[in-house]
Amino acid sequence: MRVGVSTGGGDAPGLNAAIRGVVLSALHRDWEVLGIRRGFASLLDGPEPTLFTRADVRGIAHLGGTILGTTNRGNPFRWAETDARGSTAEVDRSDEVIEKCRKLGMDVLILVGGDGTLRIGLDLSRKGLHVVGIPKTIDNDLNGTAASFGFDTAVSIASEAIDRLHSTAESHERVMVVEVMGRNAGWIALHAGLAGGADVILIPEIPFDLESVGQKIQRREREGRRFSIVVVAEGALPRGGSAVIREAAGAGTVERLGGIAEPVARAIAERTGKETRTLTLGHLQRGGGPTTFDRLLALRLGAAAVRAVADGHLETMVSFGTGGISTVPLSQAVTGLRLVRPDSDTVTTARELGISMGD
Ligand code: F6P
Repeated sequence: MRVGVSTGGGDAPGLNAAIRGVVLSALHRDWEVLGIRRGFASLLDGPEPTLFTRADVRGIAHLGGTILGTTNRGNPFRWAETDARGSTAEVDRSDEVIEKCRKLGMDVLILVGGDGTLRIGLDLSRKGLHVVGIPKTIDNDLNGTAASFGFDTAVSIASEAIDRLHSTAESHERVMVVEVMGRNAGWIALHAGLAGGADVILIPEIPFDLESVGQKIQRREREGRRFSIVVVAEGALPRGGSAVIREAAGAGTVERLGGIAEPVARAIAERTGKETRTLTLGHLQRGGGPTTFDRLLALRLGAAAVRAVADGHLETMVSFGTGGISTVPLSQAVTGLRLVRPDSDTVTTARELGISMGD
């Protein structure tokens, strides 16, 4: 048996642990593992995938990034190609990927990715390639699994940042607006804001009203709490408005969100007269090593993916739930996004703790 392993989309802490899980459990079965570098790029334009040995994955479980490299511009169905005149257009190179995998003698491709990468996996599987997915995303927005590795680390980093902002916000009696990642899901903002003791949390699932945000800050002021921390998800949007797009999708590229902290801070300053400052945590949330939770989850999911191949559970994604690790159809994982439910216990808890959700 020969399996390939590839990491795609934005990186997330735990990728190396997942690779180690895949490689060691495959070698344990005397299988071969091909390491595919730079997402799908190496299947199209090189470098040639190479066979992994135990030594390749030694001492990497705690390291950030991915030893395979990754890209969120690597969709073979929408490959960006620039012609001699310098204009870029999308071409479909998926048949080349299928042909390359066949030539490499790859029985199954194990894809570590979020919804974008796993959707590519599903489309490739519909063209005849066997695929097993491993859920990875700091955004926590994949369906079919209760957890994806990367999220716990991102939340830990963001809540530590919020903890640290409290003292400087209080010293200067300022409003600090912290923007966190998460695309169109508010998981990071909600969990980090709640854990870090934010006063206002704005998430895409609950469109906000700046009047209500201003009133919350003024209420705190009257109670003698002369500083406030506002956590805003990059995809958060005002009631009746839309999210701030940093960069529109182009040929072979996906839309980038970001920049909501500034208009929110300006509006708060106008309504409350308070001095405001913004902080965008950005890629810090994806940098460095994984938490122990993410490391362990990634190792388990990596090994489970190989087990799924051994058991013939193909065209699936390995999934984490209360009963342990199982598999779900790949199609289920990429149908829609898992978003925060406004009536969930976590949102209710935030409200009961006096946190404003901006509505
Ligand atoms: O999907 C992970 C993620 O970090 C999102 O939270 C964020 O919107 C996006 O990727 C950023 O992408 P890039 O690495 O291209 O800036």
